[in-house]
Amino acid sequence: MALYEPIIKRCSVRSYSDKIPSNVVIDAIREKIGRLKPLDNTIRIKLAVVNAAEMAELTGTKKISQAPYYIVAYSENKGMAYQNIGFLLEQLVLNMSAMGLGVCYLGGLSVKNTPPGFIYIITLAFGIPKGSLRQGISEFKRRPLESLCRGEQPDETVSQIIMAARLAPSAMNLQPCRYQIEGHKIHIFRGSPPLAIKKFVKLQQIDCGIAMAHIMEQAKFMGIHGKFCKMDNIKTGGTYEMSVILDSENNEDKSENVEF
Ligand SMILES: Cc1cc2nc3c(=O)[nH]c(=O)nc-3n(C[C@H](O)[C@H](O)[C@H](O)COP(=O)(O)O)c2cc1C
Repeated sequence: MALYEPIIKRCSVRSYSDKIPSNVVIDAIREKIGRLKPLDNTIRIKLAVVNAAEMAELTGTKKISQAPYYIVAYSENKGMAYQNIGFLLEQLVLNMSAMGLGVCYLGGLSVKNTPPGFIYIITLAFGIPKGSLRQGISEFKRRPLESLCRGEQPDETVSQIIMAARLAPSAMNLQPCRYQIEGHKIHIFRGSPPLAIKKFVKLQQIDCGIAMAHIMEQAKFMGIHGKFCKMDNIKTGGTYEMSVILDSENNEDKSENVEF
C-alpha cells in the first residue's frame, strides 16, 4: 500500500529561490483556503496571505525568514482552536507541496494588529524552494511506528494510516501524538510536553491537528471513508484529543462529527 505522495514530498523549507510565486499561484492558494475542511466548523478562523513587507509590518521585524510569502492564522479562542488550525493548515501545506512550493511553520512569532475577536495562532512561511523537496521516506527523522502505538496490534490499513501521521511535521520534531488502536478506531492522544509551559502545549495541540490532517488525507487516498469524533470514556496514556473511526457508516448524524 502506497503513501499519499505529498506526505512524502513535504519537508520544512527554510531556503527559498529569488523567484517569487506568481499571482496565479497565490490565487490558487487563496482558492484552496476557501475549500479546507475544519475539525470544528463552529470556530471562526482567518488565514491571511501576506507578502514579506506586510509580514515585516505585522511582526515589527525585517528578518523573519527568507520566504517571500506568509499565511498568518488567526482563530476565535474556543474549543480545539489550535488543533483546528493545524488540521486546516496542513491540508494546505500538502496541497502546496504537491504544487512544488516550499513551506515552513513558524511557531515562535508574535504579531501585532490581531483582528478583533480573534487570537493569533501560527504562521506558515512559503515560497519556491532553493533545493528540491523530499525524494523518499528514508529522508525522514521520526520515532519508530511501534513507539507511537498503544492497544491492539494495528492491521495493514491502520498501520499505513499511522505511518502517514508519523511523517507529519511537529514543533522541534518532538512528535507528541500517540495512537491507541481499537480495530479500525484510532484514539489520538498527546504525551506531556518536555516543558509544561503554555506555549509548548499550544504548539503540540497544533501538531495533533497536523497529524490528523495526514490521517484524513491518507485515508482518502486509500479510498477509505471515516470520521473524527470525540468519544466518551476513552482512557489513554496522555491527553485525549479525538478518535478517528475508519470505514464508518456516517449515518449517526452527530453534527460534531467530521466526516471524510
Ligand atoms: C507547530 C510547528 C511549529 C514549528 N516552528 C518552527 C519554527 O519556528 N522554525 C522552524 O525553522 N521550523 C519550525 N517548525 C518545523 C519543524 O522543526 C519540523 O516540522 C520538524 O523538524 C520536522 O521536519 P520536517 O518538517 O522537515 O519533516 C515547526 C513545525 C510545527 C509543526
